[in-house]
Amino acid sequence: MRAVCPGSFDPITHGHLDVITRAVALFGEVIVAVGRNSAKKYLFDTDERIELVGAAVADLPGVRVEVLSGLLVDFCRDRDAGYVVKGLRFASDFDFELQMAHINHSLTGLETVLLPASARWGTLSSTMVREVAGLGGDVSAFVPELVAERIEQKRNTANG
Ligand code: PNS
Repeated sequence: MRAVCPGSFDPITHGHLDVITRAVALFGEVIVAVGRNSAKKYLFDTDERIELVGAAVADLPGVRVEVLSGLLVDFCRDRDAGYVVKGLRFASDFDFELQMAHINHSLTGLETVLLPASARWGTLSSTMVREVAGLGGDVSAFVPELVAERIEQKRNTANG
């Protein structure tokens, strides 16, 4: 079966990778869909996010990465994927994901599977990573090595 893991991945974290790894174990095939949430301002542009996600999943058989533009339900239908898999950390995630799951199911019957985030990464978020990184902190425990390197590069460029 084919599932889609959608998100902004700005940047991809160990929490995302945990969910993607578990999703491919459950479904056999996963497309990571790197999208844009129009309400968000991004640290990494789409090409960079695609590249960083691609590098992070390169060693995971059954996983590929694509850009998500337009509706998630259309993306899934075009690729014959009947399931969306998302990680669930705390109650506020649930409120949002429930709304998305309902509207996506109403639109095309697309099913959503919510996986509880593993305890180790249970409250990790890209937002926190960006906050710590932006204020000069070390985020290498939370993100793949290439992401940490790129953040460092961005910081060096910004500081001239
Ligand atoms: O990591 P995020 O920011 O929660 O990811 C959000 C994303 C990109 C997965 C979400 O905005 C999305 O699915 N966008 C595609 C447009 C869509 O289908 N929206 C849901 C119906 S309103």
